[in-house]
Amino acid sequence: MLRDEVRKFAESVLAPLAPEIDKTGEFPMVNIKKMAKLGLLGVIVPEEYGGSGFDFQSLSIVIEEISRVCASTGVITAVNNSLVTYPILTFANEEQKKKYLPLLCSGEKIGAFGLTEPNAGSDVASLEATARLEGNHYILNGAKRFITNGTAAGIFVVFAYTNKELKHKGVSAFIVEKDTPGFTVGKHEELMGIRATGNCELIFEDAKIPTENLIGKEGDGFKVCMNTLDVSRVDIGAQGVGIAQAALEEAVKYSKERKAFGQPICEFEMIQSMLAEMACAVQAARLLVQYAAYCKDKGMPRFSRESAMAKYFPATIAVDVTRKAVQIFGGYGYSREYPVERFYRDAKILELYEGTSEIQKIVIARDLLK
Ligand code: CAA
Repeated sequence: MLRDEVRKFAESVLAPLAPEIDKTGEFPMVNIKKMAKLGLLGVIVPEEYGGSGFDFQSLSIVIEEISRVCASTGVITAVNNSLVTYPILTFANEEQKKKYLPLLCSGEKIGAFGLTEPNAGSDVASLEATARLEGNHYILNGAKRFITNGTAAGIFVVFAYTNKELKHKGVSAFIVEKDTPGFTVGKHEELMGIRATGNCELIFEDAKIPTENLIGKEGDGFKVCMNTLDVSRVDIGAQGVGIAQAALEEAVKYSKERKAFGQPICEFEMIQSMLAEMACAVQAARLLVQYAAYCKDKGMPRFSRESAMAKYFPATIAVDVTRKAVQIFGGYGYSREYPVERFYRDAKILELYEGTSEIQKIVIARDLLK
């Protein structure tokens, strides 16, 4: 039922805007507000905090269906849900939950996750941002880069060192509001795909964060971050499934319409071979995503391997499936006249963000070898 409802909404409301915002790079705020009304911004948040009270499997279905029509809106939704409401719901205190979750679920404020820095991507422990305690504030200094939702967000979960000597045990997590003195949003990134995600830099120059905005205790940040990424990577996998599903559907349709050598190209076995490989890949990826979400729903204490698999494989196949879709479309696939070139551009980010494919393989292999 959820899949059907979200698909109907996505096809009627989100799909018409998708090619346009890919061109302009404009953050689709109007649609995000509509999604908030349907409860899609707080999918896993209990109703008492303004959310929909669904489970993680439901969330992955929501992200897949949205991404099937608009990958930008897919990741905007994923970030708000799993990178922002999830760590607040899981690690914040009652007061913080009551203050911030209703704002994030209602769309009054959009959420963003400030981890990546100009000099720290894969190696989280090498981040340079610092937060020093002064009276009842932390003084935050540093810069964050490639922050999805950054230009539109009102609430940021930000990571910084409160004690660099302790290495990863000295990282802390903060809730930062947009109007915090000393905090500014920097340049907007012109990206190859997912172009309407408000991706930008964040700059902290003696930004004053009230002590009550620390999530958990000082030094909890690395675990908050890793545990959150375990959850959010499943949604990035779901985004990959959605993009790949869209590419498969377009390729099937086009192969029946386009004629060459006197017959529709779908009659050629080389095309059929590609379609069959694409369909298997999409379904296998979907099942990995659903399985990882199921592990989370069942309360598996650590499901890093399942989550990394649910991110790595869908990312890989999404790039491959969208590339094949372009191939089936031939020259038209390379043209903006058809959506498959957008799917191909959008898919590439899946191998890079929320941990590159190489990082996912490290997580999987470390767990295998443990
Ligand atoms: N859950 C809980 N704890 C975890 C954990 C997890 N998943 N992973 C690691 N930890 C704990 C370890 O148990 C260890 O704890 P102890 O010190 O108590 O033993 C501690 O954290 C350090 O672990 P590691 O030694 O494994 O840490 P590492 O420095 O080797 O890093 C890594 C591990 C997997 C490479 C990690 O740095 C990583 O995931 N890097 C990728 C970063 C990433 O995904 N960035 C995404 C940015 S957000 C984004 O992209 C959003 C967007 O645009 C949409």
